[in-house]
Amino acid sequence: VARFESDHDAIQMGLSGAGERLVRVDLRDPEAFTRALQVAQPDVVIHLAAHKDPDYCEEHPGDAEALNVGPVRTLCEILPATTRIVLASTDYVFDGIAPPYKEESVRHPLSVYGKTKAAAEDLLHRRARTTVVRFPVLVGAGPTLEKSGFIWQIVGPLRTGLEVTLDDVLQRRPVWIEDVARAIRFLVDREADGVFHLSGPSGGTRYGWTVGIGGHLGLPTGHIRPSREIVARRAERPRDSHLDTSKIEAMGFGPFTPFTTVVDEVLAGFGV
Ligand SMILES: NC(=O)c1ccc[n+]([C@@H]2O[C@H](COP(=O)([O-])OP(=O)(O)OC[C@H]3O[C@@H](n4cnc5c(N)ncnc54)[C@H](OP(=O)(O)O)[C@@H]3O)[C@@H](O)[C@H]2O)c1
Repeated sequence: VARFESDHDAIQMGLSGAGERLVRVDLRDPEAFTRALQVAQPDVVIHLAAHKDPDYCEEHPGDAEALNVGPVRTLCEILPATTRIVLASTDYVFDGIAPPYKEESVRHPLSVYGKTKAAAEDLLHRRARTTVVRFPVLVGAGPTLEKSGFIWQIVGPLRTGLEVTLDDVLQRRPVWIEDVARAIRFLVDREADGVFHLSGPSGGTRYGWTVGIGGHLGLPTGHIRPSREIVARRAERPRDSHLDTSKIEAMGFGPFTPFTTVVDEVLAGFGV
């Protein structure tokens, strides 16, 4: 909303959030969502809501389908062809076996989460005036440092000093939420149709990132150990789902912010 409110009449729809510009609606309820869309009459919809935890989706496939696919079906049915729909999608539509992935690379999701996001993409591919942005793990500041998702997962073990064994197999390219918001605004302004990949500029394993950020911050890392075995989880993760970002960069977007800079910005924001 912040990227659009200065020059658009921007509103937010959600279930439990707060704020002056929030319309409270359960997107899984097609009738309620339809009514909210009919009142709002948007020119552009940026559709973000999803169950994003792959393990939750694996255990609750019906729920995952209801939130990750159902509302996109409603959007396609209700909105006129003049409305642009922007869908937030994921690198998990790929299996991670043959990176890097271009926008037109063949999708092969390994998990229920990836499959529901691919199904949502498919609904939109039949429609004009649609933009799909795929991106990997999002990073940014949460309400507290301890609630700052991936950043705390990296910085937490460095700050506590407790011995920990971290995955050294799965490659991750964290992307700053500010870069994603900037890219969405960039694509909407250009009325860009199609699929676009966004990503942090470099990759690493959770172990590699933690040791690297430890070095960057001047913190000891001797207590961090690598694990060469993939930890078994409910949902299978892609090994390396590196997204090629050359398409949006060729349009003049960039650069994507290095993860070390993102960590510096987030820590500075918390006065650390
Ligand atoms: N997080 C990542 O690392 C990541 C990576 C790749 C792609 N993505 C994609 O990016 C998108 C956003 O992810 P995120 O991490 O920002 O998600 P998030 O923090 O979980 O936010 C999801 C939003 O969906 C809303 N929502 C959830 N259930 C709803 C419902 N039944 N009805 C109405 N609104 C509902 C929530 O609104 P309230 O707060 O008001 O309840 C919240 O604002 C998702 O589509 C996800 O698949 C995320």
